[in-house]
Amino acid sequence: MIEVEGMKDEGKKPQGNNKDEGILNFCSNNYLGLSSHPEVINAGKKALDDYGAGVSSVRFICGTQTIHTELESKIARFHEREDAILYPSCFDANAGLFEAFLTPDDCIFSDELNHASIIDGIRLCKARKFRYKHRNMEDLATKLSECGDSRLRLIVTDGAFSMDGNVAPLDLICRLANDYNALVMVDDCHATGFLGKTGRGTEEHFNLMPGAVDIINSTLGKALGGASGGYTTGPIELVHLLRQRARPYLFSNSLPPPVVACASKVFDLLMGADGFTEKIRENTTRFRSKMTEAGFTISGDAHHPICPVMLGDARLAAVFADEMLDRGIYVISFSYPVVPKDKARIRVQMSASHRFEDIDRTIEAFTQVGKRLGVIE
Ligand SMILES: Cc1ncc(COP(=O)(O)O)c(C=O)c1O
Repeated sequence: MIEVEGMKDEGKKPQGNNKDEGILNFCSNNYLGLSSHPEVINAGKKALDDYGAGVSSVRFICGTQTIHTELESKIARFHEREDAILYPSCFDANAGLFEAFLTPDDCIFSDELNHASIIDGIRLCKARKFRYKHRNMEDLATKLSECGDSRLRLIVTDGAFSMDGNVAPLDLICRLANDYNALVMVDDCHATGFLGKTGRGTEEHFNLMPGAVDIINSTLGKALGGASGGYTTGPIELVHLLRQRARPYLFSNSLPPPVVACASKVFDLLMGADGFTEKIRENTTRFRSKMTEAGFTISGDAHHPICPVMLGDARLAAVFADEMLDRGIYVISFSYPVVPKDKARIRVQMSASHRFEDIDRTIEAFTQVGKRLGVIE
């Protein structure tokens, strides 16, 4: 169970029979439950003592400590890439990447539902820009075929799309990239650590060889400890170029030592033992199948721990989420403009830290509220 802080500030308290059980958090990106892992916490505390609270500098002045370069090496090793570069966040990794290496002679192809940070990053670059229809390979192929004479072609996609919990068809994207001699960049924020057999992300989910995707951007702020930080991993030449040119890397402070040490411990854990992805997979299957049996519509990929409970009406979704909190379950409703009109939902996120009894309690609460509000019979 994950205790939710700050509820009192919002004047919201669980009611009903669950007062003694605390509030269950089902809306966090703490996919592997590692933000409260004792070894991760201890690593952060030790780094505070050993390296201080912060470095008061950007990386290239005096902001690079051994732990920063060690973490970059671990990230590259985890993904089986040549090198990696850390940023203060993945938002920054996406903001820094495209401007640094694309020119007006290049073309960039971006899924229309890519994350806001990708959209902003692409705005900053001078390449010709194409937005292809969401996960639509026909449209992507058409757009690629218009750019045969460009210097470089880069396809950019979220690995998993966070509003819907669906996964980009990376196998097909890589095939198209091959056909059209294009590069592929994936933002794996909602995949790294847990998607694929050993948590290597969307590439592994599709059984693609490491390196099938040219560039991976991801975050340390979700499954990988949940603090903050982001990175790009890929070819060494690209990483060298980013160290020279990526503006959020050059002009923003280094990650603080405790944050670096926590993430570094997470990579040690993930690379040191198997089985980290099993519990979240079991939890996802349990929630999705039991909720479907109860009569709810859960969208997204069957394997993804983002489980959007589709409700349609925005007001209904908001009331539903409030009533869930009254029953001790913390979930959030999403409605227009965050998702399309009449596609309001409650986005439930599974974590490996949820016990089966937590999941069953949540399904029971969904069932009670669903019946009360006429969503299910
Ligand atoms: C797909 C995607 N990319 C990038 C980000 C930004 O990550 P960070 O919190 O590390 O800036 C997020 C965070 O919500 C995300 O979901």
